[in-house]
Amino acid sequence: ELGPYRHFMQKEIHEQPRALADTIEAIIDAAAFEPALFGKDADDVLREIEGVQILACGTSFYAGSVARYWIEAISGLPCTVEIASEYRYRTAVANPKHLIVTISQSGETLDTMEALKYAKSLGHTRTLSICNVPESAIPRASGLVFYTRAGAEIGVASTKAFTTQLVGLFALAVTLAKLNGRLPPEQEAGYIEDLRQLPGSVQHALNLEPQITSWAEKFTPKHHALFLGRGVHYPIALEGALKLKEISYIHAEAYPAGELKHGPLALVDDAMPVVVIAPKDALLEKVKSNMQEVRARGGELFVFTDADSNFSASEGVHVIRTPRHVGVLSPIVHTIPVQMLAYHTALARGTDVDKPRNLAKSVTVE
Ligand code: M6R
Repeated sequence: ELGPYRHFMQKEIHEQPRALADTIEAIIDAAAFEPALFGKDADDVLREIEGVQILACGTSFYAGSVARYWIEAISGLPCTVEIASEYRYRTAVANPKHLIVTISQSGETLDTMEALKYAKSLGHTRTLSICNVPESAIPRASGLVFYTRAGAEIGVASTKAFTTQLVGLFALAVTLAKLNGRLPPEQEAGYIEDLRQLPGSVQHALNLEPQITSWAEKFTPKHHALFLGRGVHYPIALEGALKLKEISYIHAEAYPAGELKHGPLALVDDAMPVVVIAPKDALLEKVKSNMQEVRARGGELFVFTDADSNFSASEGVHVIRTPRHVGVLSPIVHTIPVQMLAYHTALARGTDVDKPRNLAKSVTVE
């Protein structure tokens, strides 16, 4: 079953061009950004909504965190995202005109299921599940469903489920924009082209594996790591830190780079590797000045960027560049290097990559 791979996680990382292509094909076959993509009643439901509330746990929560940027920027609808285990136990104020979106690879995560039930008990009737397992509990309890086509994910660390969730959430953002009259035809064609190019761009990122393996050697003896990103790439920093801590047991934290001066900069010294997700986007110059702050304290920088930025490596600054700038889908492409960094660091540390200690694939208890 593993073929040429040593672990399911490695296999699943490498399956991403295929998993994404399958998920994208389902979107484009369904006439791209039409509500029918989300179920037969979706037109009525999505036309009426005035906002989006996303609920999820772990990596799925980070997918929702990327989606918040997309939904507000592309569709103009307000969007909030909350960890399901927090939402379900607080006194929330429901707006039944908001769509509840749960995101779950397994469709069985107890906290996400209970958060959905709680939302319904508050009067929410419009619900959408983004899920990878057909007929699992959460999609069965939801009015609308989008199934990612990642195929079975066996490694405890979520990889291909995350990137395919992002594609489904991007399609949701664009569909909502279309319903809101905010999608000119040339923009729609552009997004379809972006989706078509995505599996190839992800393959290019996978081809960086030898360079990332050499970075992993530097992480192997470390006790701590810091991940930084800004804007839509901040959740990718969070995902990179979660992957690293989950499978290599290195303590890793992620911050929005603009927060450095408000506390975490105190941690930075020459023993602290700092990973920066810094593709070309509107915030790149801001990220560069954050990096100088790190360098000035002796922190060693490991920068993931893309073809359109003008970074160069220097003393204490390592740079890996994806060969294309992919615009709005950039967070998906920049997920690949952080997955591979975690994988190769764990491999070198000899941990149980597919079954990390203390964790289960599907968290069906509290
Ligand atoms: O099946 P779900 O997407 O609902 O699972 C949510 C989290 O338990 C899961 O993403 C977890 O954080 C992963 N092990 C992260 O790699």
